[in-house]
Amino acid sequence: MKHLLKLEDWTSEEIVEALNLADQLKYEQKHGIEHKILKGKTLGMIFEKASTRTRVSFEVGMTQLGGYPLFLSSNDLQIGRGEPVEDTARVLSRFIDAIMIRTFEQSEVEALAEYGSIPIINGLTDYCHPCQVLADLMTIREFKGSLEGLKMCFIGDGNNMMNSLIVGALRTGMSISVACPEGYEPPKQIIEFAESFGDKFELCRKPADAAKNADVVYTDVWASMGQEEEKKVREAAFEGYQVNAELMEVTHKGCMVLHCLPAHRGEEITADVFEAHADEIFEEAENRLHAQKAVLVKCMTE
Ligand code: CP
Ligand code: NVA
Repeated sequence: MKHLLKLEDWTSEEIVEALNLADQLKYEQKHGIEHKILKGKTLGMIFEKASTRTRVSFEVGMTQLGGYPLFLSSNDLQIGRGEPVEDTARVLSRFIDAIMIRTFEQSEVEALAEYGSIPIINGLTDYCHPCQVLADLMTIREFKGSLEGLKMCFIGDGNNMMNSLIVGALRTGMSISVACPEGYEPPKQIIEFAESFGDKFELCRKPADAAKNADVVYTDVWASMGQEEEKKVREAAFEGYQVNAELMEVTHKGCMVLHCLPAHRGEEITADVFEAHADEIFEEAENRLHAQKAVLVKCMTE
């Protein structure tokens, strides 16, 4: 059974296959070529956190593939009243063909896969955001032609986005330098994964060190969903960890800027840098649709 629980679980070949399929599905969609590969199949979409892009792109993507997306808010499900995820997994497996879940704990996603008998797709946890990174890699390939040998840089929090980007970049032949304040580094398992790629990974304190000669600069919010109460403390910790015109000066010529969105202008990115790279950022947002359709096809047909 094929799941997408975290990007570490997919080999480089599987990632590239998904990117190739995403390109093909995007081409077909743009040219009015129908691809109802998942006709008659139902995707349950469990959301325990807010979403604009993930919800809409999965819902539209499943519809374009000829299937049926079922939005399941945790406010309405028994899961929100304490029904164990192990039971939810076994019940839903009898009704539907796959589950996409956005939640807090990575262990909840892993438990769904362990107890259910259908593919599980991670639509963001506190630990990772694999669907976003597949769309990011797709976008970089689109703008740069290939990924091999490019330098990615991430400025900010060692959060779900940084974790998945480190894995995605290294698995596809890119190098990645990250800059985060002390105490906000990625978890040990990600650092260990990254260090196994030798000098392709670099953990910096100064944003300018990480951004030097970068081909892609990436950032994300300083306070993720669920961390709203820490916002003031985080704002102080991340002061200076901003993607701005001065930082862009040390990057490689033609450097892209990506952001998973939503963006907080004036915090992790300035409005001028954001707007100068809006074409890339909104293509990246659109590519959520195409990349996730590829994930759905791979998980639901292989
Ligand atoms: N980037 C992303 O996952 O956006 P949403 O939170 O709107 O789904
Ligand atoms: N790090 C952010 C990503 C949102 C897509 C969060 O978890 O809120």
